[in-house]
Amino acid sequence: MVPPKIPLIITLLLSSASSHPSPPSPKHPNSTRPKVILDNDWNPTAFIAFLLPLHYNYTVLGLASDTANSWALQTGLHALASLEIASLSSCIPVYKGSDYPLLQTAHTFQTYELLHGELPWKGVFAKENKTNEQLGNDPTSGDPRRVVREAFTLKQHYGYPNGSFAEGSAAEFMVRAVRESPGRVKIFSGGSLTNIALAVRLDPDFAKNTDGLYIMGGDVLRADLVSDINFVVDPEAAKIVLTADFPNITLVANSANGVIPDQAFLDELVAVNDNPLSRLVRANQPTFLPFWDETAACVMVDREGVVLEEVEVYVDVDTSFHSPFYGYIRPYQAALMPPGLRTVRYINKVNDTKVAEMIKRVVQFPPRSCAELGVGGEV
Ligand SMILES: *[C@@H]1O[C@H](CO)[C@@H](O)[C@H](O)[C@H]1NC(C)=O
Ligand SMILES: *[C@@H]1O[C@H](CO)[C@@H](O)[C@H](O)[C@H]1NC(C)=O
Ligand SMILES: *[C@@H]1O[C@H](CO)[C@@H](O)[C@H](O)[C@H]1NC(C)=O
Ligand SMILES: *[C@@H]1O[C@H](CO)[C@@H](O)[C@H](O)[C@H]1NC(C)=O
Ligand SMILES: *[C@@H]1O[C@H](CO)[C@@H](O)[C@H](O)[C@H]1NC(C)=O
Ligand SMILES: *[C@@H]1O[C@H](CO)[C@@H](O)[C@H](O)[C@H]1NC(C)=O
Repeated sequence: MVPPKIPLIITLLLSSASSHPSPPSPKHPNSTRPKVILDNDWNPTAFIAFLLPLHYNYTVLGLASDTANSWALQTGLHALASLEIASLSSCIPVYKGSDYPLLQTAHTFQTYELLHGELPWKGVFAKENKTNEQLGNDPTSGDPRRVVREAFTLKQHYGYPNGSFAEGSAAEFMVRAVRESPGRVKIFSGGSLTNIALAVRLDPDFAKNTDGLYIMGGDVLRADLVSDINFVVDPEAAKIVLTADFPNITLVANSANGVIPDQAFLDELVAVNDNPLSRLVRANQPTFLPFWDETAACVMVDREGVVLEEVEVYVDVDTSFHSPFYGYIRPYQAALMPPGLRTVRYINKVNDTKVAEMIKRVVQFPPRSCAELGVGGEV
């Protein structure tokens, strides 16, 4: 059943589009480089999301892992493995995030599905399946602290990480980093918003002292490939984050469905420059899924070049467990909204050609070492 509000929402999103200026080109000295923390449910090819800001001369202060497609321990191990293969372990730390969402559990998720229908993509709350894990898939449901080594060792050009997590939780790290550089740290989220919500609650000045928030998530259509696991895994965290006083919030959702690699795309990565990361992407990037997080990262690093249409809109997140839209955003216009909401910049349309070019370029020419990033003079 489609509620009558949905067509209005889409009309709203598509009609009041405008283009928006972007931050200045990142050709400035080290001390004024943009800084970013990327929080994600990392996997064997998700590193493209941090290659993008590196290529655009951002300082990546650290990676945080979250629970969305799999548990935060397993996704954090993927971050460690990716950095090791990229020879960037010594300059980019990884902080493990919260194992559990604030309220959602496998039980509540599966009960929701009984009440309201199955989601096509269940992420971490798909039922535990040992056979599936032994075939090299990341763990879902069950014990969040178990690790599935096969998800590393069975993948080509990959491996189980030898490095370890940095001390402290992802949320504490974010709070500390923003206190050290108020107004200078962007936050990027490609998974659930649990860690960022915890940071918001740990420090009342956290959100407003960031340099803005970029989120992959907030789809307005459902029941197809784009059902929004990032918000559904932790609806309460999504609500905390989307009502916090970040200087600005950019949501990239349905507009990130446009770039899906085919085999020719993946082959070209290696043909142009055979390196450990292009090999890893060719071997492991599915040819049926869009570059979701990567598109959101492209919007962050080159908004002017990438965004074709965006709109400013008030959004809420449905946190009523008994609602079929539990975990989904609800856009509002100011005149009709409930109290306590804020605006987000909702990206309606990106230049897919440009996004594809950017992704190819950063995978073909990644930094080869920490030294090459020139982070030594960082303030
Ligand atoms: C990054 O900085 C280098 C050195 O200043 C510069 O040559 C390059 O164009 C910058 N990259 C981007 C994407 O702006
Ligand atoms: C960790 O070290 C082992 C042994 O040298 C190696 O096989 C594995 O590939 C390494 N892991 C990564 C992610 O590079
Ligand atoms: C478990 O995973 C295997 C391998 O992917 C699959 O064939 C099987 O149907 C799954 N079992 C259940 C109960 O979903
Ligand atoms: C978001 O706010 C920060 C801090 O005021 C600012 O530096 C940045 O340019 C803003 N970004 C956007 C996309 O408006
Ligand atoms: C999209 O990007 C491509 C490649 O960078 C560019 O040639 C084209 O003009 C862009 N299209 C629009 C509508 O901006
Ligand atoms: C930037 O960092 C590099 C590497 O440490 C250093 O050589 C360079 O002088 C720094 N540039 C500025 C403008 O601080």
